[in-house]
Amino acid sequence: MSWMKIKRQGMLFLMIMAMDILLFGGLFFIVRDREETVRTVDQPKAKAMIPKQVALTFDDGPHADFTPMLLDGLKERGVKVTFFLMGENIEGKEEIVKRMEAEGHLIGSHSYKHQQMTKLQEGTVLDSIEKNSELIASITGKYPLYLRPPYGDWNDTLENDVNMTTVFWTVDSLDWKYQNTAKTVRKILQDTDDGDIILMHDIFKTSVDAALEVIDTLEKEGYTFVTVDELLID
Ligand code: NI
Repeated sequence: MSWMKIKRQGMLFLMIMAMDILLFGGLFFIVRDREETVRTVDQPKAKAMIPKQVALTFDDGPHADFTPMLLDGLKERGVKVTFFLMGENIEGKEEIVKRMEAEGHLIGSHSYKHQQMTKLQEGTVLDSIEKNSELIASITGKYPLYLRPPYGDWNDTLENDVNMTTVFWTVDSLDWKYQNTAKTVRKILQDTDDGDIILMHDIFKTSVDAALEVIDTLEKEGYTFVTVDELLID
């Protein structure tokens, strides 16, 4: 081998090395570029896709006229809510309860009678809860798992002895007090934020009208409506 030949082979080797470095370097930048592009495109999108969630809850029902009216409005909007049914009001309205279940709403218990539970004998309280659970299960085939004590009146002893999840509220619509659609809507919109549980009563027409108006307004603001079990999981 002459010196020239070795030199030429050396040059060739160096050129191949240089081309490799260029090629791999280029690839590296392409991959890195792509990753950065993915990251900058996805981040704001992911943020916008986490919806604000609220749960509408209705106590004291069902009502013969206003509850079906509410169910119609909810169905039209594809919205699911939670009902805390009171046994005394269920009798004779079993079809309404069946409809709630069939349309995907969550059915909870408000006990059989609207009484302040901490003022009663514990045995009476347990009977009232049990009676209502049996009644609901006889209609829907499911025992309610969630309990909203009337007036939110509850204590640690009851909490220990009742094997249900108690659900209170974070926004009080005061719908029963106002019995005025505009006032109820205003109160809810003022107080509602992400993750709230809104207390309402489906035994007034003004409450039904207010609930549907609130749904239309909050949906435009990016809220979605969930049942309380979905909210409590988070
Ligand atoms: Ni109540």
